[in-house]
Amino acid sequence: MRRLDVAFSPLGLGPPDVQGRTVFVLDILRATTAMCAALHHGARALIPVASTEEALRLAQTIGSADVLLAGEKDCVRIPGFALGNSPLEMTEQTVRGKTLIVTTTNGTKALLAAQGAAAVYVAAAVNLTVAGERARQALEEHRDVLILCAGREAVFGLDDAYCAGRLAIAALGGRKPRRGLNDAAIASLDLVRRYGDNWARPLSYSRAGRELARLGFGSDVLDAARMDAYPVLPQFHERRVTPAHQTPAQTQVASQPQLHPLPQPQPS
Ligand code: MLT
Repeated sequence: MRRLDVAFSPLGLGPPDVQGRTVFVLDILRATTAMCAALHHGARALIPVASTEEALRLAQTIGSADVLLAGEKDCVRIPGFALGNSPLEMTEQTVRGKTLIVTTTNGTKALLAAQGAAAVYVAAAVNLTVAGERARQALEEHRDVLILCAGREAVFGLDDAYCAGRLAIAALGGRKPRRGLNDAAIASLDLVRRYGDNWARPLSYSRAGRELARLGFGSDVLDAARMDAYPVLPQFHERRVTPAHQTPAQTQVASQPQLHPLPQPQPS
């Protein structure tokens, strides 16, 4: 087996830390849960960007009615955006056939920090089994795996750390390695011993969960705890997130003409 590491936040993570690795990005409350919901309900692609300004600029450049802006600031939908960051907003009626340009406080930043890895996938409870299978496959193929938590403003988040432990267990597939895990991976496995298989407890105890409940998004926390509710494996590749079995090129062939070439990002 190769290495299975966890990072509790993207803080300090540089290109050498992701290079050559298979990376799973987690922001269970709520960005990666919402991304799984959107792709499961038929969104064509998601384009994560670093800021509101970049999202607006990109939408203008693409200039298509099939593009929707999605994202939050302080957990609330950004003014002028069609969607916020709630998985419950990502209904089939709203997202089918659409390309979503997404910017969030922590989740999209973590995803962008993983650029340059050998492969980047999006994980949460709602796709835990498919993500775990891909992580186990990567380890069996002797690839190093990194589970990258978005955390909360660059610090540890209980919600993501517990999810990292669940994903690590799925990746290990019953093995109990003494070597090949960093301290964060060992700690995340300990959290699973602490909370067992009850997603709702660590999610609702976490700072993110409490904040969302306070803002009236308690149903999003419940949705994020629904294991395998959106069993799709999103892959971040060439600046787009699409289901892993389809390359962006295949997606383009399958249904014309909305997958637009992306302009180079500009500093905001
Ligand atoms: C983020 O990216 O910071 C979160 O997903 C925030 C949220 O729950 O909307």
